[in-house]
Amino acid sequence: MSRLALVTGAARGIGRAVVDELLAREYRVIATARAAEQLAALEDEIDSPALEVGLLDIEAPDVPHRVEGLLGDRALSLLVLNAARFAPWDETVGSADLSQARAVVETNLFGSWAVVQAALPALRRARGTIIGVGSGAGSHGDPRFGLANGGAASYAVSKAALHALLHKLSSEVAGDGIQVHVADPGLTATSPGMEEFGARPVPDGARSILAPLDGHAAPGVLTRDGAPLPW
Ligand SMILES: NC(=O)c1ccc[n+]([C@@H]2O[C@H](COP(=O)([O-])OP(=O)(O)OC[C@H]3O[C@@H](n4cnc5c(N)ncnc54)[C@H](OP(=O)(O)O)[C@@H]3O)[C@@H](O)[C@H]2O)c1
Repeated sequence: MSRLALVTGAARGIGRAVVDELLAREYRVIATARAAEQLAALEDEIDSPALEVGLLDIEAPDVPHRVEGLLGDRALSLLVLNAARFAPWDETVGSADLSQARAVVETNLFGSWAVVQAALPALRRARGTIIGVGSGAGSHGDPRFGLANGGAASYAVSKAALHALLHKLSSEVAGDGIQVHVADPGLTATSPGMEEFGARPVPDGARSILAPLDGHAAPGVLTRDGAPLPW
């Protein structure tokens, strides 16, 4: 029987490419997104019996109900926490609009946290793996976009918090046989013009997210292309 994976924010960008890569690896994939039209388009484009789709807004109060509805009593081998909200590139700590900054942290930290809580029973059944999509922006390992450099403040802080959350979770669930990884796709061309800044093709970003499945990355550690990145 195929291993089951669930991906958040799966209708476009890196999440969409993660779905393609997982189907190629013969997973059964539940691709989730917050718009029904996006999911219908995804089903049209992919047309695979191994694809399931489901509505999931990771900030909504019904996350536990939705995730339970998607998983039922099945065992979940892989949860990919991909969905994220971005912030204006020139946002600084000193000048950020705090209502916008709170929204970024709400999505990127608490949204993913809620999905993890809801999926844990199914992950325990499979002794599964969680991969959180982190970012060099929320790390000390990226000399160009990391915490010591420019870039959107609330986004960087939200990703640093996600890295910390998953590091903590990693030791909490190790006894259940659940592995937790945090993977950075590297600068990836999900918006027009990003190539000019050296962004890599979207499938390469997706492979970096899934690299912990192949390699020997230590649980709880941030990686890019399977190699550790200081966080
Ligand atoms: N691209 C890069 O260079 C880069 C670098 C480092 C890390 N990352 C990380 O990689 C991941 C994917 O980024 P991307 O570049 O592919 O971005 P993207 O194209 O903007 O995709 C973001 C996805 O998250 C979804 N999303 C946002 N809020 C959501 C919510 N409340 N509930 C459910 N889905 C939600 C979006 O859905 P809608 O269509 O509904 O908005 C979209 O599908 C993110 O975690 C990002 O932080 C990206």
